[in-house]
Amino acid sequence: MKVDVLLGLQWGDEGKGKIVDVLTPDYEIVARFQGGPNAGHTLEFEGKKYVLRSVPSGIFQGNKINIIGNGVVLDPALFKGEIESLESSGHDLTKRLLVSKKAHLILPTHRLLDACYESAKGDSKIGTTGKGIGPTYTDKISRNGLRVGDILYNFEEKYNVAKTKHLKILSQYGYDVSALAEIEKEWFAGIAKLKQFTFIDSEHYINNAVKEGRKILAEGAQGTMLDIDFGSYPFVTSSNTISAGACTGLGIAPQSIGEVFGIFKAYCTRVGSGPFPTELFDKTGDKLRELGFEFGSVTGRPRRCGWIDLVALRYAIMIDGVTQLIMMKSDVLDTFETIRACVGYEINGEQVTDFPFEVDENIKPIYVDMKGWQTDMTEMRKEEEFPQEFKHYVSFLEKELNVPISIVSIGPDRAQTIIRK
Ligand code: GDP
Ligand code: IMO
Ligand code: MG
Repeated sequence: MKVDVLLGLQWGDEGKGKIVDVLTPDYEIVARFQGGPNAGHTLEFEGKKYVLRSVPSGIFQGNKINIIGNGVVLDPALFKGEIESLESSGHDLTKRLLVSKKAHLILPTHRLLDACYESAKGDSKIGTTGKGIGPTYTDKISRNGLRVGDILYNFEEKYNVAKTKHLKILSQYGYDVSALAEIEKEWFAGIAKLKQFTFIDSEHYINNAVKEGRKILAEGAQGTMLDIDFGSYPFVTSSNTISAGACTGLGIAPQSIGEVFGIFKAYCTRVGSGPFPTELFDKTGDKLRELGFEFGSVTGRPRRCGWIDLVALRYAIMIDGVTQLIMMKSDVLDTFETIRACVGYEINGEQVTDFPFEVDENIKPIYVDMKGWQTDMTEMRKEEEFPQEFKHYVSFLEKELNVPISIVSIGPDRAQTIIRK
């Protein structure tokens, strides 16, 4: 049995949470492989809406096992809040959410460092989610991190060593740490909550499950264009969001990967700073934001909106080895007279179709225009009902991207999902 991977192909918020939930009935285990509470994965069904941040999106479909993998960074305080809010709506996860001992802990001082580094950047801010993601992964790589498994052995001592190091850095920047004691209180309450869960050697658990023929879905966070190696650096997150991240983030070999589901919106969004060649600054961009309700599920920030960028998408598909595409938020385009797709870039008078190293204001998108379908698709439940112009958009994208689109989403609800034959 292979592990299937589901990940975002753009700059995050493609709709990963919704589709993990839709696909979970086919799997026994769902495992998050990277990122942390910078993620906000939204699920809607039976008139209810949930936003998950560290908890995998496979928790609502029967009693499936969900795993927080070693590649994830976990903030115990936010984790506690997330778990308690799920408990209050009747979802007890203590028996079916397992946490890797090797997942790294986001410390209170990591959050302060994130804010401190951002303010030190002045005009070149990344626009992080402020959750301490960068500093936590930095400590992991520089071998100063604390892991979930450390909670079980001499934890206070290890915590104080890390905290002292961080305070030294913060004082060099003259950063105000008066909020720390309060944050620490919540954080240690979070540690107590976390201890109610089973800590596992997730690499053994997952590889045994593969051997036993149990189906596993690996859930990504963020998107390929935010990947630390291949995204629009330095305006990226600090983990490998690509399919290879599932190998390092769960401890599975490349040959254990099966399907790679790549998710994209029928248009494109980005939150935070950084290049975005097809961004729209006009009424059309505002209309996409309004109809797509494009406001961050974690920070509430308005998302930047633009047309679909096939140069960036082809690049993501290549890096991830995508085998099936999933197109989200098609309904947001329901009222547009014309739909545009960027098929190449013009850079200093030359046409470019490979995503370049330098992505700046010299890039001019080359667009193909298509007639919009101008039909409400949100109540449709069969592919046959789709308007002709929409079918044309789907086959145009399949031809340009050279990968089949196997699922089309036409609304936020679980039921608004069309699996194509
Ligand atoms: P994720 O981070 O990739 O899980 O995506 P988010 O949850 O941050 O953002 C996706 C947003 O779009 C959420 O508010 C979803 O409820 C919503 N959504 C998902 N699929 C669709 C769709 O097909 N149509 C519409 N209109 N909204 C959708
Ligand atoms: P999901 O999983 C969209 C963006 C931030 C910022 C950059 C770095 O919901 O798709 P970080 O806090 O990670 O250091 O921020 O990455 N970012 C996301 N954008 N969706 C996300 O997650 C994101 N997680 C981080 O806005 O530009
Ligand atoms: Mg999101």
